Formats: sequence, C-alpha cells, structure tokens
Amino acid sequence: MGAGLKKGRRNGDPVVAIDGPAGSGKSTAARLLAWDLGWTYLDTGAIYRTLGWLAWQEGISMEDEGALVALCPRLEGLSFQWNPRGEVEVLLDGKRVTPYIRGEEPGRWASDVSRHPKVRRVLLDLQRAFAIKGPLVTEGRDTGTVVFPKARWKVFLTASLEERARRRLKEMGMGEGKEAMEGVERAIKERDEQDSQRPVAPLRKASDAMELDTTHLSPEKVVERIKKLMEEVD
Ligand code: DC
Repeated sequence: MGAGLKKGRRNGDPVVAIDGPAGSGKSTAARLLAWDLGWTYLDTGAIYRTLGWLAWQEGISMEDEGALVALCPRLEGLSFQWNPRGEVEVLLDGKRVTPYIRGEEPGRWASDVSRHPKVRRVLLDLQRAFAIKGPLVTEGRDTGTVVFPKARWKVFLTASLEERARRRLKEMGMGEGKEAMEGVERAIKERDEQDSQRPVAPLRKASDAMELDTTHLSPEKVVERIKKLMEEVD
C-alpha cells in the first residue's frame, strides 16, 4: 500500500466502499466482512437490478429516463436481510425479490437503467441513508468515487474475465461448458464496457482506493486483506 492511502483518510466516514466490475468478488467479500463486523450491508447493484426488474415487469423501456425516475420512490421499500444460511436476501416491501434480480439478464437491465443521470441522482440519497444507521460495508461501481467519496476505506477489486465468468456460472448453478463460458464472458464484457464508458459515475478506481486482483484469491483472503487495510488506516 502506498503512503498516499494512509494520508488524509483518518476522519472519513466509517464506510468500507468496495467497487469493481461484475464477478470481481465484491459481493462475497462485502457480505463476509459485514457479517463478520456486524455492520450494515448495502449492495448498490441490487438497487439498480430491482429498478430494472420493476421496469421490465411494468413494460417500461430501459431508455425512458422519466418513467424510470418515476419508479424510483418504490425502491424506498428495499431492504437487505440475512437468511439462516448467512446469505443476503433482497426484500421489496418485505417481499423476497432475490430470485428475480440475480443472473445476467437482470444485470443487463440494471446496467441499462443505471446509465441515466437523473436515475443515479435520485438514488443517491437512498444509498447514503444506509450509512446513517451506523458503520457500513457497501459495494458497487461508484461507491468510493461518488456515493461515499469520504469513505474511510476504499477497495477496488479486479479479476480475469475467465475467472469472473466462472464465478458467475457457479453462482447460477451452471456448468462450465465452452458455450456457456463464452456466453457469460460476452455478457460480462459488454456490461463492463457500458458501465465504464457511461459519462455519469462510470466504473473506475478511486485514486485513494486499494486495488486488489482477486483472480487467485479465496473470498476469505480478500476479506483478510481488507481487514488489514482497516487496521492500517484507522
Ligand atoms: O454489481 P451488480 O452486478 O449487481 O450491478 C448490476 C449493474 O448495476 C451494473 O452492471 C451497473 C449498475 N451499478 C451501477 O451503475 N452502480 C453501482 N454502484 C452498482 C451497480
């Protein structure tokens, strides 16, 4: 870690902001860490995924910024809950929506709806409200750059495209056949491109984030590294 990471962070908000592309290991690491510390957990991708799913259900185009903004207040009913297996369930008005928002198709909807500046603007307060409840572990694309620019600890995770596709397939309970791998690799690559090239809050590493390549690291090792950062930058 460079000295620059330590300087000037000491009075930041008690927030661990983990960003990175799809499949880089953000969710697993963030959940393990939040569970371990007993801190609030916020999956910002789930907010965009739920918005995309609501739009799809209501036949609203992912291009219709005004209609998407009008849907945003519905997301105030979003919450996260640990189930007995130590997994996180996404609830909307108390109803479990996790199965509808996982996988690559809802991921694509999320990437599409998240391109709109007004949608992002409206959802900022909703995301920031999670930090009012206490210390927070959050993850997404812009949590360290835009949502919580004063987060005390910032992490940017990366991994090879192949490894990221493998993780996605495993998550979806699918085998690693050549065709499936190629399909998921293509979908992830397209999403990465769209998320990195959009003009507002693109996916990028915050200048003061610790970068970690997780290709050959277990989730536990990733958490260990983040905890080390938290000890060093307190
Ligand atoms: O992390 P994820 O795969 O659940 O995210 C789904 C999409 O949501 C991602 O491709 C882009 C968008 N997203 C975003 O724009 N900003 C965030 N902070 C989190 C997700």
